[in-house]
Amino acid sequence: MASAWWPCLVLALLSGLAASGFPRSSFRLLGVSLPLFILWVVDGIEVYSTKINSKVTSRFAHNVVTTRAVNRADVAKEVSFDVDLPKTAFITNFTLTIDGITYPGNVKEKEVAKKQYEKAVSQGKTAGLVKASGRKLEKFTVSVNVAAGSKVTFELTYEELLKRHKGKYEMYLKVQPKQLVKHFEINVDIFEPQGISMLDAEASFITNDLLGSALTKSFSGKKGHVSFKPSLDQQRSCPNCTDSLLNGDFTITYDVNRESPASVQIVNGYFVHFFAPQGLPVVPKNVVFVIDVSGSMAGRKIQQTRDALLKILDDMKEEDYLNFILFSSDVTTWREHLVQATAENLQEARAFVKTIEERGMTNLNDGLLRGIGMLNEARENHRVPERSTSIVIMLTDGEANTGVTNPEKIQENVRNAIRGKFPLYNLGFGNNLNYNLLDAMALENHGFARRIYEDSDADLQLQGFYEEVANPLLTGVEVEYPENAILDLTQNSYQHFYDGSEIVVSGRLADEDLNSFKADVKGHGAINDLTFTEEVDVKEVEKALQERDYIFGNYIERLWAYLTIEQLLEKRKNAHGEEKEKLTAQALDLSLKYHFVTPLTSMVVTKPEDNEDIADKPGEAHGGPEAGEAPGVVRGPKKRRCPLLQH
Ligand SMILES: *[C@@H]1O[C@H](CO)[C@@H](O)[C@H](O)[C@H]1NC(C)=O
Ligand SMILES: *[C@@H]1O[C@H](CO)[C@@H](O)[C@H](O)[C@H]1NC(C)=O
Repeated sequence: MASAWWPCLVLALLSGLAASGFPRSSFRLLGVSLPLFILWVVDGIEVYSTKINSKVTSRFAHNVVTTRAVNRADVAKEVSFDVDLPKTAFITNFTLTIDGITYPGNVKEKEVAKKQYEKAVSQGKTAGLVKASGRKLEKFTVSVNVAAGSKVTFELTYEELLKRHKGKYEMYLKVQPKQLVKHFEINVDIFEPQGISMLDAEASFITNDLLGSALTKSFSGKKGHVSFKPSLDQQRSCPNCTDSLLNGDFTITYDVNRESPASVQIVNGYFVHFFAPQGLPVVPKNVVFVIDVSGSMAGRKIQQTRDALLKILDDMKEEDYLNFILFSSDVTTWREHLVQATAENLQEARAFVKTIEERGMTNLNDGLLRGIGMLNEARENHRVPERSTSIVIMLTDGEANTGVTNPEKIQENVRNAIRGKFPLYNLGFGNNLNYNLLDAMALENHGFARRIYEDSDADLQLQGFYEEVANPLLTGVEVEYPENAILDLTQNSYQHFYDGSEIVVSGRLADEDLNSFKADVKGHGAINDLTFTEEVDVKEVEKALQERDYIFGNYIERLWAYLTIEQLLEKRKNAHGEEKEKLTAQALDLSLKYHFVTPLTSMVVTKPEDNEDIADKPGEAHGGPEAGEAPGVVRGPKKRRCPLLQH
């Protein structure tokens, strides 16, 4: 039974959302977020097919990556399958098929999976947990031993809600096959009930002209389609070369028609409500930039920060107010109070920015409190317009090491100073910082944290972030539904609605026989308070969604589950004691029920129970409920090891 091709180890851990960054840290430079896949080629292993099939229904993307390989060598070889997923995606399925036998993946509570895994390791079986993250990626890796002449198929499924940034939904597929692949294919089908208004696709590794017939894209009405199918010759880096040109991002962007500010969709008792009004005047903003100028910012980082601030100043509108707070061992400010972004003041601001130099330690607490205090004072003393909104943008590259340094104390100070009045955005530059603190603190104050990666484009990353929050159209947004009509509602209040983004609320109808569904969105605009009312006939809406050829059935329910889990995990970051346990239990239940790999669950690929090899293992056959399964481990013949995965 122990033939050489037993997968030596199949791991799985796939925390779609590493503790470090989920989910908002995935920085979107010019909107970039993205999955990718690579197949490591070992001599003799031929990857003969790679397919990515995506179905996007109302922004909810269901992606299946399938790779097939054959071992052409005359000895067993190991083959690894790597997929890099967007940090905001959840893996929902993985199967491995070797010579026609399929090993399915099961989602289990992380602790359970980990114990099984540790047990396997302690018994000397090869096992591996793999976790790595790049800019916006988390890596999924599986490695198996494939016998001479045998074939293996990897199939990975992940789901993601595409978020709207700067007026577009974006989907990134990073493509890196590392060898010529006979059948290489990307197929994306988009179904949007509002109708598609634009659709584009491009590859970073080649101009669209050269792609020629390999790339097709089209849209009409509610449907859009993109396919990329380069022939072997089109994959070659030069006419007679054997290495592949395919290496980089494949990007799809689209947007939908917005005749009305909102769209409500209902399927099987679950609804989703998208809200993105157009053409409203921008609410003037009061923005305080709190910038870390400690010694560690020296060199390229401080230069990039200056460059980004100069560009941001170019985008300031005359109605806006601003100031700069610099913190190192102590705190200094450009001006005593916020000043209006007049041409003259902006000129002086530019001159000031050019003089910013690094020095000393990191007094993050005092820097933040100074910025927050300044916004509070400006409001109290009517230095800023009544109908304006305030924002704090903090940039740091290190941990607090002077003044108040206890993270909990900093968090408490900031919370007490902001008191929910305006959002705090934390930008973490590089890796030598307490990102968890930045993340938790920003979430608690209605903002979010982003990582700024130390790279040549850091200034563009900073600017890109600013552009997302530069144009608030509404503040104090409340999405309301008739009392008792909705159950299990996701987040329905937002401090700001920014131009080019979208608010998404989902829930379950309390009464499935409801005829008419009504929603009110209230917010404060630049000129007056606004209410947007949307009323739809439930039966009509359901009927309009019957074009099932493009739709995978219960997408709204899954979208609801995705959003609910995402929000529970966020809330959990600032919860303690019983509250935290409750949030954890709810998120775990939903992750297991909907088969999502989250930070609370792992995917385990198991060897079929009827396999002697496993059943024979001491302890396992009688080892309780999980008997017959080795977690994350499908064991190879005795003594065989998977060198790539040993810890
Ligand atoms: C996972 O994928 C396999 C193979 O496509 C399929 O048979 C199975 O039903 C899927 N499982 C889930 C939970 O979707
Ligand atoms: C490619 O190889 C063919 C056959 O070996 C040869 O005839 C041709 O000149 C080569 N083309 C280039 C650009 O090297």
